[in-house]
Amino acid sequence: MNKFKLAVFVSGNGSNLQALIDTSKSPDCPFKIELVFSNNPDAYGLLRASQNNIPTLTLDHKYNNDRQEFDSTLSKNLEQSNFDLIILAGFMRILGKEFIKRYENRVINLHPSLLPKYPGLNTHEKVLKNKDKFHGATVHLVDEGLDTGKIIGFSKFKVEKYDNYDSLLAKTHEIEHKLLPKICSLIATKKIILNKNNILINGK
Ligand code: GRF
Repeated sequence: MNKFKLAVFVSGNGSNLQALIDTSKSPDCPFKIELVFSNNPDAYGLLRASQNNIPTLTLDHKYNNDRQEFDSTLSKNLEQSNFDLIILAGFMRILGKEFIKRYENRVINLHPSLLPKYPGLNTHEKVLKNKDKFHGATVHLVDEGLDTGKIIGFSKFKVEKYDNYDSLLAKTHEIEHKLLPKICSLIATKKIILNKNNILINGK
């Protein structure tokens, strides 16, 4: 079977990358991880990749302060590998206009909130502060804005009275680890078709 190829971008721990790796080990999984990229040479996600014999690419943003330069060096490096979709899974750097244009409809992001609520950082803190009844995670298409692209799918849970930052973080991770592999499988099998204006489900 010709598997759908993912390039996964991470900046830190990479527990969501691990969820993708674990899913990809099942023989009937429709996707494989072709490459793991990080802007942080110390990202634990890179180690997870090499432990699983997945090629890695690192471009330290500290030495590439200019966004355009970073993005174009990254694009050049990516030309050497062959993938169908880029997954931002805890990738803490904003990709510029040109990069997004180049990979239009081929970059998705996992965000720890029920978008459009709480784009950007500190989502768990905001849920607690606003005493929200529900919290969750969203996978969306990446456009030029900050967490503004078309929503592909989400998963949510009820916030309990006793929840605090740590429990929200743990519960969000738990649902993310199911949501992201599921969305990737649906895209890989063309049950979800990505398009800037419409996210087509089951081709309809
Ligand atoms: C996840 O909560 C994801 O939603 C956010 O960054 C976190 C990454 O966690 N974008 P990990 O590195 O996959 O453990």
